[in-house]
Amino acid sequence: MLEDISSVFMSLEPRHFRVLTGIEVGMKYHEWVPVEEVSMYTKLEVRQLNYILKDLGHKGLLKRQTVPYEGYRIYFEGYDLLALNALVKRGSLSAIGEELGVGKESVVYEGLREMVGGLGQQPVVLKFHREGRTSFKQVKRKREHLDGLQHFSWIYAARLAAKREFEVMQWLYPEVNVPEPVDHNRNVIVMAIAEGGELSKTRVVDPEWYLDMILEQVGLAYAKGVVHGDLSEYNVFVSDEGVTLIDWPQYVEVENERAGELLERDVRNVLAFFKRKYGLERDVWEVVGGIIE
Ligand SMILES: Nc1ncnc2c1ncn2[C@@H]1O[C@H](COP(=O)(O)OP(=O)(O)OP(=O)(O)O)[C@@H](O)[C@H]1O
Ligand SMILES: [Mg+2]
Repeated sequence: MLEDISSVFMSLEPRHFRVLTGIEVGMKYHEWVPVEEVSMYTKLEVRQLNYILKDLGHKGLLKRQTVPYEGYRIYFEGYDLLALNALVKRGSLSAIGEELGVGKESVVYEGLREMVGGLGQQPVVLKFHREGRTSFKQVKRKREHLDGLQHFSWIYAARLAAKREFEVMQWLYPEVNVPEPVDHNRNVIVMAIAEGGELSKTRVVDPEWYLDMILEQVGLAYAKGVVHGDLSEYNVFVSDEGVTLIDWPQYVEVENERAGELLERDVRNVLAFFKRKYGLERDVWEVVGGIIE
């Protein structure tokens, strides 16, 4: 992630984004996009194009090779900015704030969104998906064995995960307590901030009530045809008002052959946490039975 994504974003002009987009498009076909293709796509005059390419390089938004030909490619730094640009243009985002957390497969930031009708600004969360990251590193190591499209796989993986997560949240919201999904573009999702704090870091006064609330949400999601698939005390937010389930990209539909196994694992994780921290005992099979009946 860039050191200061917000100020880098502010320093870019439309032609910077045009060049980044040109490289993004070219990466469908090339590991390193030939400069001629970037030029054709952007229709910028050579001197101007060279200036912008250099500037983007200084800002850490693209990589350049000169041998065997002059070519460019982007990685998450540039891709994130393309997504932010689209979200800002569409009015889904007006400011980027502090980093909230780094997950295994994402980086999460605070942000603001201008609400329609001059209703002020709504605090939002920006989730930058990073799913292709490790495989990209492996890909780099084994480059000689690549087929033609491997270099594009990190974009594909991260974009697909963001799309999946956004769509399932749209499907579940508001019947199930998930953050309100606002918008998504490429690998980035904009959503409402979950109230309260992570269950793992909070000591609740009435654990029984929270456990019931969580299991109720798991049941509601199941009734809508969805199993979370990665549920644990890290993906549940708790506040005085109730609970919110976050982090959905690995969900499965209840028809999936792994749905039963994943539901059981989700329930087990939650029950194990409440037993460990609060001494609450529940029977896994009774709970699972109550959900799928
Ligand atoms: N809507 C939200 N409101 C408040 N905080 C959030 C929200 N979404 C994510 N976060 C914070 O960012 C962290 C990472 O988000 P999330 O769990 O969705 O990503 P992840 O990369 O899949 O995490 P991991 O794989 O490590 O579980 C969360 O643990 C939480 O602290
Ligand atoms: Mg998580």
